[in-house]
This record gives sequence, C-alpha cells and structure tokens, in this order.
Amino acid sequence: MTEKNQQILLARRPAGAVEEGNFRLVEAEVPQPAEGQFLVRNLFLSLDPYMRGRMSEAKSYAKPAEVGQVMVGGAVGEVVASRHPKFKPGDKVEGPFGWQLYALSDGKGVRKIEERGIPLSAYLGVLGMPGVTAYIGLLDIGQPKAGETLVVSAASGAVGGVVGQIAKIQGCRAVGIAGGADKCRFAVEELGYDACVDYKAGRLDEDLPRAVPGGVDVYFDNVGGEITDSVLLRMNAFSRIPLCGLISEYGRPEPRGLKNVRSLLVNRIKLQGFIVSDHLQRWPAALADLARWVAEGKIKYRETVAEGLRNAPTAFIGMLSGKNLGKQVVKLS
Ligand SMILES: NC(=O)c1ccc[n+]([C@@H]2O[C@H](COP(=O)([O-])OP(=O)(O)OC[C@H]3O[C@@H](n4cnc5c(N)ncnc54)[C@H](OP(=O)(O)O)[C@@H]3O)[C@@H](O)[C@H]2O)c1
Repeated sequence: MTEKNQQILLARRPAGAVEEGNFRLVEAEVPQPAEGQFLVRNLFLSLDPYMRGRMSEAKSYAKPAEVGQVMVGGAVGEVVASRHPKFKPGDKVEGPFGWQLYALSDGKGVRKIEERGIPLSAYLGVLGMPGVTAYIGLLDIGQPKAGETLVVSAASGAVGGVVGQIAKIQGCRAVGIAGGADKCRFAVEELGYDACVDYKAGRLDEDLPRAVPGGVDVYFDNVGGEITDSVLLRMNAFSRIPLCGLISEYGRPEPRGLKNVRSLLVNRIKLQGFIVSDHLQRWPAALADLARWVAEGKIKYRETVAEGLRNAPTAFIGMLSGKNLGKQVVKLS
C-alpha cells in the first residue's frame, strides 16, 4: 500500500479550554494486520464531549489518554485487509478506531453494520453511542410517563435531539433548552419539541417557567451549571434527573457547583448519574428501537460534517462551544 496513514495525536493536555495546539497531525506507515487482526479504513470520525475528559488527567470513569498517543474516538469504516475469522474485506464496521485514517483492530468493541440504506455516519449518532445514551438515560433512569413534562438541555445536540423525540413517542410534553434562536427553531419545527428556550438570550429564569407552566417531571441534564440551577427551581415533587453530562463545566479550572440543591430535598428528587457503557445489556434493545423509529420517521436527526482529518481539532473545539447542530462528525474520505 503506497498511501500513508494520518493520525492526530494528543500533543499536550489542555489547561482550561481546548486549543489547536493540544493536537498534532502526523504521518505514519499504514500498519499490516497480524494474525487475529484486521485493518480498517475510516470513513467517518465521531467527535464527542467525553474526549475532552480523556485529554485531562483528572480521575474519571475511564483512563486518560496518554500524551503522544492517537486521540481516542469512535469511527465507522471499511475493512480493507483481514486476518480475523469474523471480519472480511468490504465489511462496514463501527468501533473505537481513533482519530486516524487507518486503524488495526482485534474486533473488541467493534460492531458490523448491516447496511439498510441508512447513511454510515448515523451509526456514530442516532444509531450509535449518543442515541443509546438518550434511550437509556431517558427511559431507564428518567422513567417518563405519558402526560409528564420533560426538559432536556443541549436539546438540539446528538444526545439531546434524540431525548426530546423519545419523550414525544412516550406521550410527554418535551421542552428543550438550547443555545440560540436557530437551534430552538430547529428543535421545535424539525424535531417536534413543544417548546424550546434559548438560554443565550439571557432570560432563562423568566422564559423557562413560561415554557413549563406545570413544572418539570424529568430533567435530562447534559450541561450542569447555571442551566441546571434554573431548572432545579421548576422541578415537581418526586421528579427525576438523569445526569448525563456537565459540558458547561468541562473547560473550567474549578467546578462552579450548584446553588439550588435544596430543591432536591424538598421535592424528593431522584438524581442519578449514568455512563452509557455500564449498560451494555440494554444496547441491543435500544439500537433496535432507535432503528425502527428512524425507519418510521418518528426520530429525525441532523449532522454537522467537517471535511478531512486535519480539520477534526477545529470541529472538536467548535462542538464544545456549541457550533454544531446535531451530531458532529468528520468525513475522512
Ligand atoms: N453519560 C454518558 O454516558 C454520556 C454519553 C454521551 C454524551 N454524554 C454527555 O451528553 C452531553 C451532550 O453530548 P452530545 O454528544 O450530545 O453533544 P452535543 O449536544 O451534540 O454538542 C455539545 C453541545 O453542548 C452545548 N454546550 C456547550 N457548552 C455549553 C455551556 N457552557 N452551557 C450549556 N450548553 C453548552 C452546546 O449546545 P448549545 O449550543 O445548545 O449550548 C453544544 O452544541 C455532554 O455533556 C456529554 O458529555 C454523556
């Protein structure tokens, strides 16, 4: 093979906000599979907020990435050479292949994609980890009932966009919180939210109560910080908070903390953090339901697509600050 591999490495750990200088693009030989391995040519790379956590040394649920290593990340690609009994050239696969054009794999954490006319990039979003996160977080942890009101932050994003639509399928009133009038319009007009509050308008404490006149029964929290404090003041008795993410805190040197913790007590709220990879037994059911809902047109999705591996750092930094609409991916070929 004459083509070179290209890889993006973690060049240094971020101190606060992520910058281009935290990454380095390098060229390497395309590796050859040993016995039990196969070689994947990546077609789409997924950019996800959890990667910010892996860039840092802070204790978390997963080990930090090492400086000088290829950035971790999910991708979809095509098997181009194989010495693995279960994977053959031409197979389309999704797995932890990293920020690079070619990756070796032993099959661990890899799923074969049965092509059903759905674009391959969707297996990184609505039919992948973010979709399953929305499903498990809302249905298993949030336990919404028909007629209840759900609020979700980062409502137009990869996870949030699916949360709102599953809530509608369950017969709930779905209210989003998103950054900007365009994202809110998209959430209501295309994703079918009943209402969406633009927190960047700076009036969340006045606008949110108007959008949830009967209070909030489930708050799917993607962001933490001031937005969560505002929602806490609207929670109903015996409401639930699936704590999915804290993106407003990821680039802060010190946590902001919450002010309105009293609401947890007086409203007997059940707040539970969760990590989607702890629920592997639920993935098959989640993926089957999500695929059916997408096929039936009950779940719609949008992607923001960056072009070329070298643009992945800029797209990643943009996603962390809200430049994406829907799932952020990078097209690699
Ligand atoms: N627990 C799990 O297993 C799990 C799995 C996947 C994802 N997550 C978490 O879920 C959340 C959403 O992930 P995603 O992949 O769907 O990303 P995403 O929503 O597609 O993109 C990130 C969004 O976060 C919002 N954001 C950024 N900074 C913010 C701030 N300071 N305040 C409020 N919102 C801010 C932006 O939307 P706006 O423009 O609307 O602000 C941005 O578009 C993240 O916190 C992520 O870590 C958790």
